[in-house]
Amino acid sequence: MTLTMQPPSPTLALDLANHSLNEVSSRLVHDYRPGYHLAPRAGWMNDPNGVVYFRGEYHVFYQHHPFDPSWGPMYWGHAKSRDLVHWQHLPIALEPGDEFDRHGCFSGSAVVCGDTLVLLYTGHTWLGEVGDERSIRQVQCLATSDDGVHFAKQGVVIDAAPDAAIMHFRDPKVWREGEYWYLIAGARLGDVPLLPLYRSSDLRTWEFLAYASRGGEGDGYMWECPDLFRLGGQDVLLYSPQGMQPDGFERLNKFHTGYRVGQLDSDWRFTGGPFIELDNGHDFYAAQTQLAADGRRLVWAWLDMWDSPMPSKAHHWCGMLGLPRELELHDGRLHSFPARELTALRQQALLVDESVCDGAGGWRRVPELAGDLLELEVRLDLRGCTQGQLGLALRCSDDGSEQTRLYYDAGLQRLVLDRDRSGAGVDGQRSVALGAGQNSLELRVFLDRSSIEVFAADGSFSLSSRLYPHPTSLDVGLLGYADGGRVAIRQAWRLEAQIA
Ligand code: FRU
Repeated sequence: MTLTMQPPSPTLALDLANHSLNEVSSRLVHDYRPGYHLAPRAGWMNDPNGVVYFRGEYHVFYQHHPFDPSWGPMYWGHAKSRDLVHWQHLPIALEPGDEFDRHGCFSGSAVVCGDTLVLLYTGHTWLGEVGDERSIRQVQCLATSDDGVHFAKQGVVIDAAPDAAIMHFRDPKVWREGEYWYLIAGARLGDVPLLPLYRSSDLRTWEFLAYASRGGEGDGYMWECPDLFRLGGQDVLLYSPQGMQPDGFERLNKFHTGYRVGQLDSDWRFTGGPFIELDNGHDFYAAQTQLAADGRRLVWAWLDMWDSPMPSKAHHWCGMLGLPRELELHDGRLHSFPARELTALRQQALLVDESVCDGAGGWRRVPELAGDLLELEVRLDLRGCTQGQLGLALRCSDDGSEQTRLYYDAGLQRLVLDRDRSGAGVDGQRSVALGAGQNSLELRVFLDRSSIEVFAADGSFSLSSRLYPHPTSLDVGLLGYADGGRVAIRQAWRLEAQIA
């Protein structure tokens, strides 16, 4: 971690940061660079921050360290798009260095107020040693822009948490309902997570309403990046807890992102069902939602996990965002689908007929599908499959020593994403239960140069993980090591590279 205690004056800091990005971009190694996902031009990226639709364009901001491919004093990177598909990088929006955000502009959100694009974010200061989380100051700050590109800081709008003993107080998510703005943030009192909820009529003066939720036994010690929204007639509380323990196949990552479905009552208290992970892959964190132009609820997340191996650091960049996903609520669970706009990425269709492998068919390459920017539609027919594995291998090397496997494990009755042989750095399996009696499963799989996102076609689960295969490991194969069933790649497309 490289941390500067005395950053230069703000304008100079922004100039230096943008200059550094230009300079380092020319030295990037592109092996793992995503072709159609958002990643920083150079340096480090973590959480998606203000994700907002403003004057006919989607804006995405993100936690960014422009000078180094590791986390450090946080800036807000910025990109925009007309269609959620083609992205343009914009100059850095926020830089740390003022008295109230001396060591970082931490996560927050963006809203449109009249003609102004407004950012609410956490100003972070180390009070003791840099990196010592026991002694920090976190306040909520405001910045505004008339052109959607250049932002003027307006200073602190909430200078202390409701309880004086709270030090960790961050990640304001703001939305409008009726005549008020509402803000929910993450806070930590000792080892108890709290979510203070506020209300304002002008985005500057905030009235504390209540702790919308507080953690109990087993709920972790801090809930980062909370979001609260209505969907399908219910309230959904989305957050990223730190400190929850794994349980069987659940919560195997260092931290998690998940939600509870329930109701915010007239005392501003949320009651709801259990915490459910929003994605079951290795890398999905700090999710934040927005409303699309047509009212769909979209969710964005950081496609990485704290403390995971990140081999692209050696290539002068690190971190990417997952694809934007549409959320729907069915039977008390969120369903997520790749945003429908993403079909515009499809270039050449790669298959004339389905490519099929029977349960006991062994291993078969599908040469026409070789590639690193792919979308596949896959059907697993599970009837008669009671033992063994049935699925796909992706990003395979010539000798098969490298490959990422996605398969139904009949013994476990789970869909498994296995990256034990995926390339540099990473390993381990993640999986979802399919339940007895499920006869078939339709999947959509998105491969980019260092990521895989798997979506159940009915939206009931997703598995998102980073991979770092060798750039020449491009083959796709079918796996049939089971006593029955069938796997078929039904359609496949090469996807358009958007971002160099
Ligand atoms: C989540 C998080 C936020 C914080 C930001 C700092 O990943 O820890 O709570 O605002 O990252 O970069």
